[in-house]
Amino acid sequence: MAHRLLFFAFLTLWSSLATASTADLVSSLKALNFTIVTPGDPNYPTASTAFNLRYTFEPAAVAYPTNAQQISALLKVSRQFNHQVVARSGGHSYIANGLGGKDGVVVVDMTNFMTVAVDSSTGTAIIGPGNRLGNVALALNDKGRALPHGTCPYVGVGGHSGFGGYGFTSRKWGLLLDTILSINVVLADGTIANVSQTTHPNLFWALRGSSASFGIVTAIQVMTFPTPSSATVFEYNWNLNAADAAKAVGAFQHFVQTNIPQEFAAEIVIGKGSVQGNLSWGLTGGWYGPADQFQSVIAPFLAKVPKPASTSLTPGTYINSVQFLGGLGRLNTSSSPDGHDTFYAKSLMTPEASPMSNAARTAFMSYLANDGFNATTDWFVEIELYGGTNSAINNVPIDATAFAHRSSMFTIQFYTSAPGNVPPFPPAGFSFLDEMVNSIVNNSPKGWDYGAYANYIDDRLQNWQQLYYGPHYPRLKALKDQYDPMNTFSFPTSIEE
Ligand SMILES: Cc1cc2nc3c(=O)[nH]c(=O)nc-3n(C[C@H](O)[C@H](O)[C@H](O)COP(=O)(O)OP(=O)(O)OC[C@H]3O[C@@H](n4cnc5c(N)ncnc54)[C@H](O)[C@@H]3O)c2cc1C
Ligand SMILES: *[C@@H]1O[C@H](CO)[C@@H](O)[C@H](O)[C@H]1NC(C)=O
Ligand SMILES: *[C@@H]1O[C@H](CO)[C@@H](O)[C@H](O)[C@H]1NC(C)=O
Ligand SMILES: *[C@@H]1O[C@H](CO)[C@@H](O)[C@H](O)[C@H]1NC(C)=O
Ligand SMILES: *[C@@H]1O[C@H](CO)[C@@H](O)[C@H](O)[C@H]1NC(C)=O
Ligand SMILES: *[C@@H]1O[C@H](CO)[C@@H](O)[C@H](O)[C@H]1NC(C)=O
Repeated sequence: MAHRLLFFAFLTLWSSLATASTADLVSSLKALNFTIVTPGDPNYPTASTAFNLRYTFEPAAVAYPTNAQQISALLKVSRQFNHQVVARSGGHSYIANGLGGKDGVVVVDMTNFMTVAVDSSTGTAIIGPGNRLGNVALALNDKGRALPHGTCPYVGVGGHSGFGGYGFTSRKWGLLLDTILSINVVLADGTIANVSQTTHPNLFWALRGSSASFGIVTAIQVMTFPTPSSATVFEYNWNLNAADAAKAVGAFQHFVQTNIPQEFAAEIVIGKGSVQGNLSWGLTGGWYGPADQFQSVIAPFLAKVPKPASTSLTPGTYINSVQFLGGLGRLNTSSSPDGHDTFYAKSLMTPEASPMSNAARTAFMSYLANDGFNATTDWFVEIELYGGTNSAINNVPIDATAFAHRSSMFTIQFYTSAPGNVPPFPPAGFSFLDEMVNSIVNNSPKGWDYGAYANYIDDRLQNWQQLYYGPHYPRLKALKDQYDPMNTFSFPTSIEE
């Protein structure tokens, strides 16, 4: 009994100390003289809403600094209170890691870091992490330049360039993080640094693949590319039964190993079919070579599959292709905020050296065509082409950056949403996706060397250290010890001490 009382007294004391320290933290942050939104403020509900409505977190504060010095001061204050901090750029983390992935974190919103400055003599550009991809594409295009990056116009540069950054020009130009020449970053202890291959090579390495665990990036300097003189968006669609769908995946795997040019980019998009046992199966992508050469490039694949139910080829300018693939009819994100979804997503990166077996393709397509037909959540699957012959992604040496997958053929994204895209998320959606992945893995050779993509971040993933970071994890851990010993940047799937 006495023990119990003592225990409760201790608990009460502890929780009042915790409250006092949060109040002190908040007042110390407010004394820094830039916008700090805290619980109770009118802007707080909007400032703390995740893109994925499956998550509701309450940050201790959401800060809107305008320069690196303010972020440095914020980190010093947070450290005094032993408090955790995260950066948020576009806010599109699948698991709300831009809010810290839990309650009570200090969020550093990068909305004010919006530079896009092109140096036309060198082709390099300085880009603020708060920019959205659509706006970056527009601003660069004005100067005749472009970068590899994803299709969604609202995704932020901060997260995208910190963990990868794949888009249809990646087979030609690499991932967004491969274009980075130097990075301005604020470290956990408040140090402001400009890091590159020559200044802080270890940190430069870690920030390209696992940025959020090591610092708050305030600008990246990148190498841009001249915009291709034309771009053709293609979309082929089929209604296939499971067996034909498995054959079509096999035909595509074969096709991408037969000397396809870097200018060819594609993904297979699979959705629910019109009847149980069938699938909606599409191939969509971009061709960045001369428009009149596309038909001869794709012909060997089309020869191996049934005649498509529909075909659409849209040749035009490069920026038109970016807008078309973005799917919103506009690239400028400034006029209205993005929508939301309530979803769960997973990923699987397949090894180029051991493509999906016939058994794996058959089990996977059969699962989608049958269990996928009566699923209680909406879903799609994208099989994105990372490899194939002549891929710039895979031409980068594995140890050049912390990004750990330089020999993948595909990154498969498995994605399922709550009905109507609003909460609640039906729990059956979790096992539905787990079983999609299992249908492939359980029908692959023992020790199959697959991975997962850290920008399709999954907080339910077992063995994520190995799947996201592979052989790079020990080095990342050692650097975490060195640069963030107090674990200030801590969130689900952050590098452990
Ligand atoms: C609709 C949609 C479409 C997508 N399409 C693609 C695609 O085509 N290709 C692709 O590769 N990915 C795609 N993604 C995934 C996307 O790349 C990731 O979700 C990305 O991390 C989002 O970055 P963000 O800045 O918007 O997110 P945030 O939630 O702001 O950040 C994501 C992570 O990065 C960290 N971070 C953010 N800014 C900084 C910074 N300045 N310094 C340090 N760490 C930082 C955050 O703390 C968090 O851990 C898509 C996502 C969505 C929602
Ligand atoms: C914040 O502003 C107040 C009032 O103008 C000033 O007294 C204080 O020194 C400022 N603090 C910082 C950190 O700039
Ligand atoms: C986007 O639109 C805003 C006005 O709505 C404009 O100020 C801005 O320059 C545009 N951005 C780009 C990159 O075109
Ligand atoms: C880092 O410093 C170099 C050398 O001064 C400079 O050229 C580069 O633009 C800086 N990087 C950023 C992101 O500002
Ligand atoms: C299912 O797909 C097959 C082709 O694989 C097709 O012949 C058949 O018509 C489809 N069934 C329906 C009902 O659409
Ligand atoms: C959905 O269909 C699959 C395959 O036909 C079946 O095994 C499963 O029991 C069905 N699930 C539900 C919820 O009806």
